[in-house]
Amino acid sequence: MKTSTDDGYQTGFGNHFASEAIPGTLPEGRNSPQRVAHGLYAEQLSGTAFTAPRAENRRSWLYRIRPAAMHGPFAPYAQHRLHSDFSAGPVSPDQMRWSPLPMPETPTDFVDGLYTMAGNGSPDALHGVGIHLYAANRSMQGRYFYDADGELLIVPQQGSLRIATEFGVIDVEPQQIAVIPRGVRFQVELPDGEARGYVCENFGAALRLPDLGPIGSNGLANPRDFETPVAAYEDVEGEFELIAKFQGHLWRADIGHSPLDVVGWHGNYAPYRYDLRRFNTIGSISFDHPDPSIFLVLTSPSDTPGVGNMDFVIFPPRWLVAQDTFRPPWFHRNIASEFMGLIHGVYDAKAEGFAPGGASLHNCMTGHGPDAATFERASNADLSKPDVITGTMAFMFETRAVIRPTRQAVEAPHRQRDYQACWAGLRKHFAPKG
Ligand SMILES: [Fe+2]
Repeated sequence: MKTSTDDGYQTGFGNHFASEAIPGTLPEGRNSPQRVAHGLYAEQLSGTAFTAPRAENRRSWLYRIRPAAMHGPFAPYAQHRLHSDFSAGPVSPDQMRWSPLPMPETPTDFVDGLYTMAGNGSPDALHGVGIHLYAANRSMQGRYFYDADGELLIVPQQGSLRIATEFGVIDVEPQQIAVIPRGVRFQVELPDGEARGYVCENFGAALRLPDLGPIGSNGLANPRDFETPVAAYEDVEGEFELIAKFQGHLWRADIGHSPLDVVGWHGNYAPYRYDLRRFNTIGSISFDHPDPSIFLVLTSPSDTPGVGNMDFVIFPPRWLVAQDTFRPPWFHRNIASEFMGLIHGVYDAKAEGFAPGGASLHNCMTGHGPDAATFERASNADLSKPDVITGTMAFMFETRAVIRPTRQAVEAPHRQRDYQACWAGLRKHFAPKG
């Protein structure tokens, strides 16, 4: 199915899209004809096992100027802040929080600006996630990147990104997300000069929309709001480099042309963007605060039904109307582990300390919840009136397995070592005869 918007995107989630930058590029009746129009090469990119069930199967056919095989040999590339080693040392059950990653002081592009905070599983096991931040101040110049280890969920927090991919160009700004499938080559430009954000590198099954159950056929993230680019290509030659993330480390190879040379493509394995402000937020209109799964945008399923390898959850602007209810998120401990970030504004369960660009980590069975100031305010709020939360956008990467912070994250100067003090002011209210 081919659908188009006026601004260079095709809409829908998981559709079999088709797009060509030059009319007549896509072959009819077969995927790999003896000769492709315009002297192009045909190449398949598979994102699932060939034999995956039809509903799960993802692949695209690319019609390109040169095959992806054409590049020099790979050699290790020294960018050691990005990795997939989550095995070092014991993992503390402490609650942890970080201030924003400082902007680089030297010219740094998206690849060099990636900084691994935490993760679990591994690329070779095909489950788990790597959780990274990026802070960059210049566009990628003469270099292209792909990640063979996982799908990239990119969450800009400051500054927009122009992501030129094999499939076309994606523009995202804070409060939008981009998803780059495993293996897709791309280059990141920074139209605003500086950029910072979060990346969830998903080693497991590709992200998809969750089932809606009793919610019905509409709500949460609607499929029509997902946008996949139309075909766009570069026909340039030069001394470029191809950077790959493979088995936890970066590699570089010489390449004599832009690998973004796909003139036409069709299939259902393609990058996309989504505007978080389009999320249909659902909550209680009687009492109690629903579980945060009500805020689920995308999920990477595990091999256990209903249990995500990674769930991407957001906390957007919304009305709070529940009666006789503690309205902010409650105190809790979960079997799941939670890495949170704040894109914009203030998060309603914390009065201070959780800044846009910052992060927090609450692991399996570690108690957490509102800080003392938020508890006092919410416990004494006038619930006869609705309240509205505006100007905020927080998110969570929630995983089945424990999220293991990296050594550089635990030892980082911007880690808030006094984070636990936010609960120290919770007073004892117990009154057996009260
Ligand atoms: Fe939590």
